[in-house]
Amino acid sequence: MLTPIPNVTANGTKKEVTNGTSTKTLWDTKTQQYHGGQEWQFLDNFIEDFSVTTNGLGTPRKALQAARDALEVCHHYPPADQEPAKTYLANFLWPEDYQDVHSRLLLGNGASELIDLVTRAAPEGPWKPGPWKIQYKEYERSAIALGRTVLRPDHPTSAALTCIVNPNNPTGDYMPIEELKSYIETTVADNTVVMVDESMQPWHSPEFRHDSLISQSEWLKNMFNTRGIAVFIMHSWTKLWSCTGLRLGSVVCPTVDHCIKLKKVQVPWSVNLPALKFLEVVTSDEEKDYLDETWAVTSEWRASLVERLEELCNGQWEIHGKPFLSWVWIDMKDARVAADAVTLAKRAGVPVRAGVHGYACDTCVRAAVRKPEQVDVLVQAWKGLVDV
Ligand SMILES: Cc1ncc(COP(=O)(O)O)c(C=O)c1O
Repeated sequence: MLTPIPNVTANGTKKEVTNGTSTKTLWDTKTQQYHGGQEWQFLDNFIEDFSVTTNGLGTPRKALQAARDALEVCHHYPPADQEPAKTYLANFLWPEDYQDVHSRLLLGNGASELIDLVTRAAPEGPWKPGPWKIQYKEYERSAIALGRTVLRPDHPTSAALTCIVNPNNPTGDYMPIEELKSYIETTVADNTVVMVDESMQPWHSPEFRHDSLISQSEWLKNMFNTRGIAVFIMHSWTKLWSCTGLRLGSVVCPTVDHCIKLKKVQVPWSVNLPALKFLEVVTSDEEKDYLDETWAVTSEWRASLVERLEELCNGQWEIHGKPFLSWVWIDMKDARVAADAVTLAKRAGVPVRAGVHGYACDTCVRAAVRKPEQVDVLVQAWKGLVDV
């Protein structure tokens, strides 16, 4: 195991971290769910954060400026109806019939707020992830906090609430739309609630909408009318538009009624003015180039990252995830190697996300897709990890 490295507290004093996988200075691990993205602020040689799945292009500039400008009016409350940002987002999601989407859309302070809101509103009973054994933890955290029993995806007991993350963070698995619908139809019990997280789905391609549940309003209606299955479509916007600190998420409800019920119990003004302004601009033509560039470069940068990691590991690691995604999930096949990879990355100022925290995958590490020159730093830090 590598020797301890120095770390720095928020007030600038040096603090010892036992190794790169330590979380004790950042999270109250007894009561909070571990999440990437906390370490950058403690690294005095920080270069780039590989520990979160945000867009490698960084925050879109015009939208960021709009958020800055909005601070000028921060002595006013945000609009109670979340407009016009909500209309812009509805139009972005499904321009073909944005009014239908709009009537079932609610914005939140990150998807995390809405995940919690839907978990609270869903009927009592067990919670199930699916179909992958490891998935983004916030759904489970919320379910446990609200006293739900957690079941395995293949457990014979039916769940009152099923949560599917598609594409799945961290493994990078993905079900195309017909497979996803068939999975829901065949595994979910009647009169229950389903959340489908499509936060990473827009990375798919410029045609992402056609492989998304957003395009399936008839099917969604039918699922509810014939079987009582209420499917909510969840989006975190903090990754695609790299604004994790701003907090932006949305949920498309199965019916207008479901949306009204959520709105009734949502804390007012949970999305602040800068976030609403940001959303308005980022979904407008002003930032169209940003998404075109996202689709153009992400898969290219990812392919190059995969190639460089494969060269580095000499066939000893497995690299998972769909080619369009903004991260790679690396199984290093050895817990010691994975722990050292986390330490070395942190030491080089390019933190990655250890698979051990929350996911209990002690041989795995998640790394974001980043610019090739930033990947150089990570690859350099990892030289020597594998005996060749
Ligand atoms: C798949 C997925 N869904 C939801 C979230 C929650 O994001 P936020 O609350 O920042 O919108 C995340 C964050 O990592 C995520 O990866």
